[in-house]
Amino acid sequence: MSNNNKKLFLETYGCQMNVADSEVVASIMEHDGFTITKIREEADVILVNTCSVRENAETRVRGRVQGFSELKKKNPKLLIGVIGCMAERLGEKLFEQEKNVNIVVGPDAYMDLPLLVKKAENGEKAINIELSLTETYKDICPSRIDETSISGFVSIMRGCNNFCTYCIVPYTRGRERSRNPESILKEVLDLAEKGYKEVTLLGQNVNSFVYKNSVSEVSFPELLEMVAISVPNLRIRFATSHPKDMSDDTLNIIAKYNNICNFIHLPVQSGSDSVLKDMRRKYTQDWYKDRIEAIRRIIPGCGISSDIFCGFHNESEEDFNDTIELMKWAKFDLAYMFKYSERPGTFAYKNLDDNVPENVKQRRLEEMIVLQNQISLENNQSDIGKIFEVLIEGISKRSEQDVYGRTSQNKVIVFPKKDYQVGDFANVIVKKCTKATLIGEAV
Ligand code: SAH
Ligand code: SF4
Ligand code: F3S
Repeated sequence: MSNNNKKLFLETYGCQMNVADSEVVASIMEHDGFTITKIREEADVILVNTCSVRENAETRVRGRVQGFSELKKKNPKLLIGVIGCMAERLGEKLFEQEKNVNIVVGPDAYMDLPLLVKKAENGEKAINIELSLTETYKDICPSRIDETSISGFVSIMRGCNNFCTYCIVPYTRGRERSRNPESILKEVLDLAEKGYKEVTLLGQNVNSFVYKNSVSEVSFPELLEMVAISVPNLRIRFATSHPKDMSDDTLNIIAKYNNICNFIHLPVQSGSDSVLKDMRRKYTQDWYKDRIEAIRRIIPGCGISSDIFCGFHNESEEDFNDTIELMKWAKFDLAYMFKYSERPGTFAYKNLDDNVPENVKQRRLEEMIVLQNQISLENNQSDIGKIFEVLIEGISKRSEQDVYGRTSQNKVIVFPKKDYQVGDFANVIVKKCTKATLIGEAV
């Protein structure tokens, strides 16, 4: 133990992978003698786990880091570290641009954190942004930071090889690598032992998972089945799936096991074939529709969500209209919608002009949001009168008499608490809804 009794405050931005990584970081630091604090003012070290996916994600983090000046004034020994995707993308530049930053660590270098903290304490430059072809943190048992949660993440693969032309992730996360299934199962079983009721398997392209060694090969559907069998009383989810790898084998495994949730997040990005081509998404509108039809055929009633963004290079009104038509056709339960944000270093940044004016992007985004809100509401309305099995996740923020949880289809539902406890399963009939929430009663 080299950092006995020091306190670490961890703040996390970005995707679920970052949430999972922060638990790895917490574990590494705890092994070095740190304790995790929820009070910023008492921290010796603050680590901010960051996202670079859109410019506004980075702007937020910069504001946050600049805001730490007050704390530094009060405690001149306080060390601030930027870790994760922004650290990887900006490297040394972060020291120049953000005066408060003492430590910079990329997503594959977290094992080095305790040493880097020591260096920073000695006033030395503390940076490691080396990407790895093999690091999966397979031997780290993540510290579950939110002890009240009944739902845990397990990352099964890291990195991305797809190089969609607009996307920074392959540069910040490095090459795709899948984790040893044995260590995945060990972590899943550990969650079950700790009383967790749900596990989400994570990866940037989770369904491209493939683990090879000299004797065997494990594919994503095979891994999914192994997990489903090993923890029959846990709900299993996974994200994010790439449409090009969404196989019938995977869908059949979901249909076969009751404990694998009937929900798939399948980002489409655009409905226009020419935009999809410029994005290098490796599928067409027809391919995507075929995958949606396969989901609905093999897993009737499956919840489906998506990511979509407008205003990419050369997106015409006609292209945008293809996206609108696809949204009407697919009737996603939920969609995360964005405006294109050009990212330095990507293929698009170098070769595909960011030529849709900001006001056009904004108008298109608003049009998508209005449409999706309408579709989400209609989908929820069609659930009225149906009964769903719900895993209770917490007490409603609006009323202590109510609990909330999610259906297998990933819809949030609120209903009277009665004698139910967080972590219980309940059968709930849907009575009412809004566009975002179902409201029901246990039966
Ligand atoms: N690996 C996942 C998603 C990664 S990023 C996948 O392949 O789908 C999450 C979402 O951010 C993406 O699905 C995309 O919709 C959006 N996104 C990524 N880069 C973007 C950019 N440069 N501008 C706007 N949105 C972007
Ligand atoms: Fe980015 Fe594409 Fe990889 Fe997803 S699949 S992380 S959008 S490059
Ligand atoms: Fe953001 Fe990095 Fe995740 S860029 S979306 S935190 S992989």
